[in-house]
Amino acid sequence: MNVDGPKVKAHHLKKEYRDFWGRRRVPALSNFSLEIRAGEVVGLVGRNGSGKTTALKCLLGLIRPTQGDVEVLSGDPRDPAVRRQVGYVPEKTDLNPLLTPVELFHYHGRLLGVDPATRRKRTDELLSKLDLQRDSRRQLRRLSLGTARRTALGVALMNEPKVLFLDEPLSAVDPEGVARFRDLLMGLKGRGAAILLSSHILSHLPDIADRILFLHDGEIKLSGGVDEILKRDEGTRLALSGLSEGQVEEVIREIRARGGKVEDVGPGRRSLESLYLEIVGSFRAEGEDGP
Ligand SMILES: Nc1ncnc2c1ncn2[C@@H]1O[C@H](COP(=O)(O)OP(=O)(O)OP(=O)(O)O)[C@@H](O)[C@H]1O
Ligand SMILES: [Mg+2]
Repeated sequence: MNVDGPKVKAHHLKKEYRDFWGRRRVPALSNFSLEIRAGEVVGLVGRNGSGKTTALKCLLGLIRPTQGDVEVLSGDPRDPAVRRQVGYVPEKTDLNPLLTPVELFHYHGRLLGVDPATRRKRTDELLSKLDLQRDSRRQLRRLSLGTARRTALGVALMNEPKVLFLDEPLSAVDPEGVARFRDLLMGLKGRGAAILLSSHILSHLPDIADRILFLHDGEIKLSGGVDEILKRDEGTRLALSGLSEGQVEEVIREIRARGGKVEDVGPGRRSLESLYLEIVGSFRAEGEDGP
């Protein structure tokens, strides 16, 4: 096995679904090629029905591509030995609703061959990192949507996967959960995991992914490093503070006098996310929301 090679390899994948009568072939993915190396996070974006879930399921070996090859950890993704090293969060949380997060973590850990001591340690770690302690012994069916989603993330991480496939992992997860998720993902990335995630929450992706892949009608229309695809050819962003209104006007006049163009002027504004985290953090500090 080539240990330095890509952890995920897809070569010219094509997937056609049959219609209800098993006749007409509906193309969902074509010419989809991708390699993900250790420590790389790739974001998959595209409108509803563009083929993201289809691509992820082909890579996981859950559906068979009509054409093309898939290799995960230099093997077949359907091989149980490979499967044990892969994590997956499906687009719909698909866990036994009668079990609690603790039970689900242990159950899936056992299925994935994690030994009991490691299972206990990881369960405690994940409950804490995903902020699930308060709900750890409540049945999944009684949990809020986002809490169930965070449980699904924990389940996918029980085997400390070398390859992680995430389909809309952040749907219904609150901003604090998103920040915790980002930390967990960066930890896995640091340990050399190869990660592919689909998301419609575009604002988070540049902070999480190294590379982005745009799918449209089943085809990759654009792919590249985040810095490369988001760079602007010209223009500089300038944020000012400590000046009076009159002084700002002077600066603007000076820029214009030098031939520059001022594209946008307005009061400074912080992000809603940072305000949210500050408010939630202050309630936590007061002990109102402690475990
Ligand atoms: N089991 C199936 N049988 C027939 N067609 C399917 C099946 N699953 C998906 N499709 C079709 O394949 C195309 C791609 O669907 P897919 O679920 O991969 O999109 P997606 O990018 O994940 O969308 P979303 O953003 O809504 O999750 C769509 O046209 C969809 O209708
Ligand atoms: Mg989907």
